[in-house]
Amino acid sequence: MERKKIFITRKIHSIGIELLKKYYDIVLTNRPDSPSKKVMLGKVKNVYGILCTLSEKIDSDIMDAAGSNLKVISTYSTGYEHIDIYEATKRGIYVTTTGNILSEATADLTFALILALSRKIFEGHLYIIERKWKKGWTPDLFLGSNIYGSTLGILGLGNIGTAVAKRANGFNMNIIYNNRHRLSKSIENKLNVTFVTFEQLLENSDFLSIHTNFNKDNFHLIDSIALKKMKKTSFIINTSRGSIINEISLIQALKNKWIAGAGLDVFEKEPLPNQNKLLKLKNVILLPHLGSATVQTRERMSKVAAINLHTILSNKKPLYLVNRELLQNLY
Ligand code: DGY
Repeated sequence: MERKKIFITRKIHSIGIELLKKYYDIVLTNRPDSPSKKVMLGKVKNVYGILCTLSEKIDSDIMDAAGSNLKVISTYSTGYEHIDIYEATKRGIYVTTTGNILSEATADLTFALILALSRKIFEGHLYIIERKWKKGWTPDLFLGSNIYGSTLGILGLGNIGTAVAKRANGFNMNIIYNNRHRLSKSIENKLNVTFVTFEQLLENSDFLSIHTNFNKDNFHLIDSIALKKMKKTSFIINTSRGSIINEISLIQALKNKWIAGAGLDVFEKEPLPNQNKLLKLKNVILLPHLGSATVQTRERMSKVAAINLHTILSNKKPLYLVNRELLQNLY
């Protein structure tokens, strides 16, 4: 029997590729970087499935170029804003994600940023590396601010926000949150969190951490009006999506000291353009989108993305289906 063809857009952790090799002919760019649209249009012809990452825009052109065999787009990510869900659903193409696998890794990274910002870890390291540490212990050297007992504001208390809240309890933080939907009293009690309005979240957080999914309603939700409401001593941390913050407003806020600093793992444009003014600021820590970047997490993401693709092509229900309206057609 002829094996079905699938397209894997770039080199991901090998475990998923090995798994899929058993069943399919794989068209693979075999490069770790994201292919151009032109390359994808050429490679995608007649495939039954696409395994992509968040950097490839899968729009109607790609779906058309693949043709009518295309049945599944499995993304090696939790976010799926790079896929045109409307166009996929219209064509009966299933879209799957790696769900909440990355929650713990992303929560760890969020805390790494909280710790690094509040305790000036990066500045301290540079100070030594640049051979500026001449006087030994000094009473006022790199004074930070307490995490223990401070207020953490979580914008979006889903899977990652919950994992962050659990860690924050260990630091005895006062945890407030704002969500589209308030959680049940029993979950609030279990997590030791208090629901507040968006304004109260801005005004009271010592650390404001963003964990909401990106959607058309929260584009630039954190703008200059929001940033001006925050405490001058507060820090903002974003491990979600860059476009939830208006970057121009954030740069203004950081320059004018409306807030104390920012820890950013995500940006409006990735990679960060050379002329981006964040690069010139001292009160920021910038990371190249590393939320899920642990060996264990990427391995599981690879496995789940592969299993999702194979499950759909076997007409079965996958783990994390985005367009659930198509679920009825599966067994
Ligand atoms: C995701 O999966 O959406 C993360 O941003 C990258 O792993």
